[in-house]
Formats: sequence, C-alpha cells, structure tokens
Amino acid sequence: MASVRSVALKALSGPSWSYLVPRAQTLRVRAFTATMSPPSKAVVYEQHGPPDTVTRVIELPPVEVKENDVCVKMLAAPINPSDINRIEGVYPVRPQVPAVGGYEGVGEVHSVGSAVKGLSPGDWVIPSPPSSGTWQTYIVKDQDVWHKINKDSPMEYAATITVNPLTALKMLEEFVTLNSGDVIVQNGATSIVGQCIIQLAQYRGIHSINIIRDRAGSDEAREKLKNLGADEVFTESQLEVKNVKGLLGSLPEPALGFNCVGGNAASLVLKFLRQGGTMVTYGGMSKKPITVSTSSFIFKDLSLRGFWLQKWMGTDKAKECRSMIDYLLDRAREGKLKYEMELVPFNNFHSALDKALGKQGSQPKQVLTF
Ligand SMILES: NC(=O)c1ccc[n+]([C@@H]2O[C@H](COP(=O)([O-])OP(=O)(O)OC[C@H]3O[C@@H](n4cnc5c(N)ncnc54)[C@H](OP(=O)(O)O)[C@@H]3O)[C@@H](O)[C@H]2O)c1
Repeated sequence: MASVRSVALKALSGPSWSYLVPRAQTLRVRAFTATMSPPSKAVVYEQHGPPDTVTRVIELPPVEVKENDVCVKMLAAPINPSDINRIEGVYPVRPQVPAVGGYEGVGEVHSVGSAVKGLSPGDWVIPSPPSSGTWQTYIVKDQDVWHKINKDSPMEYAATITVNPLTALKMLEEFVTLNSGDVIVQNGATSIVGQCIIQLAQYRGIHSINIIRDRAGSDEAREKLKNLGADEVFTESQLEVKNVKGLLGSLPEPALGFNCVGGNAASLVLKFLRQGGTMVTYGGMSKKPITVSTSSFIFKDLSLRGFWLQKWMGTDKAKECRSMIDYLLDRAREGKLKYEMELVPFNNFHSALDKALGKQGSQPKQVLTF
C-alpha cells in the first residue's frame, strides 16, 4: 500500500536527485498507459529525532495511480501529539524512515484507477483506519484505505475526527457501563479528547468532573469547558485539599476516570473515584509516572486500565470504526461536538509545528490546510 510513495521516498536517501533519473525515464515510456498523480509537496523526515530539526518540506515526484488506487488531494490534516512521537521515534508503531509525517486528515478524490468502485473525483474521503503520510498535498493509496464522508462535514472536523474524538467515544463505551446521571472524572480536560469526553458524556446525560493544569489562561479555559457542558472544572492547585470528594456537591462519586497526564494529575483522578472505580490511562503529557497508594487497591479496590486506539482499530474493527466516525461527524455538523482548532496554511508548517511542540505555551490544535 505504502510502496508507491516509498519508492519515491527512497530517492531521498540516495546521493542526489539523479537517483530518480531511471524512474523518470520509465515514466516517460509508460506515459501513454499509466495515470499519474501530480507531484506532491510533503513533510518528510529521513531519521528520527526532534521534529523541528529532522523534518523538511520537499516535492515528491508523481506516482502511478494503479487500477485499485485512489489519488487524493489533501485538504487538511492535524498535528497530534502522537505524530510528534512518531517522528521522535518513541511511538511503539511508526513508519520506516524516510517517511512522510501525519496520520489522519481529509482530502478530495482527484483521480481513480480503472477498477475503483464507489469513489469518484470530487468525493471527500478520510483514511480509515488512519495511516501514515497525511502531511502532503497528494496521496495515492488503495481504495480500501479511504472512507467516503458527507461533504457537508466541516473540513477541520473531518480532518481531526478519528484520533481524538473516536478515542473519547470508544473509551466512554468500553470500560464501565454508564447510565444517565452517572459521573466521570478526567484530567487533561482541555485536550481535544477531553473536550470530546465532556460533550459526548453530556449528550448521554453523564456528568463530568474536569481537572486542568495551573497555567496562564486557566480561568478562560475553565469557562470554555463549562460552555461545552463541563459540570465542574478544577485546576490541580484547587484540589490540594484534604477531601476532594467534598467538592462534588450533589454529584455522585465517579465510577470511571480518564488520565492523559500522569503524575499528580493522575493521583487526583484516583482520589475522586468511588469504591471499585476504574481509571483508564490513554496519554502521558507530563511524562511523569502514575503513583497509586497501597490503600487505593486494598480499601477501594480501584482498577487501572489502558487504552490505545491504534491497537483497537487494528483488530478487525474497520467497519465499526467507520460507523462511529459517521456518528461523530453528524454530531459535529449539528454543532453538538466542538473543539478549538487553529487552521494554518501548509506553507507555514514549521510555525504550526513549533506551536504543537508547546514552544509558545498552550495553543489550540494546529490543523494544516493544503
Ligand atoms: N491512547 C490513544 O489511543 C490516544 C488517542 C488519542 C490521543 N491520545 C493522547 O491523548 C492526549 C491528548 O491528545 P490531544 O490531541 O487531545 O491533545 P491536544 O488537543 O493536542 O492538547 C494537549 C493537551 O495536553 C496538555 N498538556 C500539554 N503539555 C502538558 C504538560 N507538560 N503537562 C500536563 N498537560 C500538558 C494540554 O494542556 P493545556 O491546555 O494546559 O496546554 C492539553 O490538554 C495525548 O497524550 C495523546 O497522545 C491517546
């Protein structure tokens, strides 16, 4: 599947662009029979390392659109924390270098191979399950990779609907049976996953207790989360009290907690949980470990679980995953699923990357537009 693009990428590791000459000659000979993609402008890394030093934007040569292939002109793609980890080389599954960055996004079908059914130029598609290499202007991949979506979907939501909103939805359904009136607690509530958890929970009548970090702008962040439907929002320092449960008011104790931060923020989630409650860890933004008191296990019988979307999607879940995505896009179209994003032209990739790396403090999700 990735072979077409990887042939082109191999050129990058050669001594110079002259490496491409034999391929260019081949293309001329086949020009009468083969459909070719346009050249693609791409964010490429040839080795793992700090993303701001190992990535560069280059033009990749056209590739053949084979009979089952679809050539997609990308419209938008986000920079997610896991994209950064893949480039750094610290993500458990990562593409072989040289590679094109990015993992999810949305595009418009540009051309299709002769055997392609159900997709035509002009359709909007997302790679589903997502796949590596979305930070480029044209992608050629087998038709099975692409999921056609409603063109009325807001472009930036279509580009970002899989990695974070799907994680939020799946985690709400996977671990504990929640009913209307139940409560969940989470840290990292300002993340896209966190914002989606608040709204998807509220849609089901489930309340949310939200923990955010102490930083400039935390009052504004609290108000934004409340406007999305958060019941309670606390900074970590507000929870430096003897009995955090005294802050629950009339809300019942939460049975389920979500942790994407670690360290103290994870301990706070555990403190809120009721007897027999479950904390699901899905991220580690602070890079600090989780510490659990012995009494949490003995006297509260808490359970610690983990979730990784990529693993779940890899287990024959393509169909389920696509219907959940359609559901989430419906919610976004209705304005019932919202989150903050900043759209950045692809030409400004490196300034978007700096923001995504946190070099300018807290920033909205960076979404590249092509
Ligand atoms: N396991 C999975 O399958 C899965 C799937 C999707 C996402 N994730 C993980 O979920 C997490 C959130 O992803 P996202 O894309 O939704 O996030 P995002 O929208 O890019 O937001 C980043 C979040 O991390 C917080 N943050 C950044 N640096 C931090 C630090 N040093 N200490 C504490 N908090 C920090 C930010 O808080 P501020 O607002 O205060 O800056 C913000 O809440 C990431 O860890 C990601 O890898 C995991």
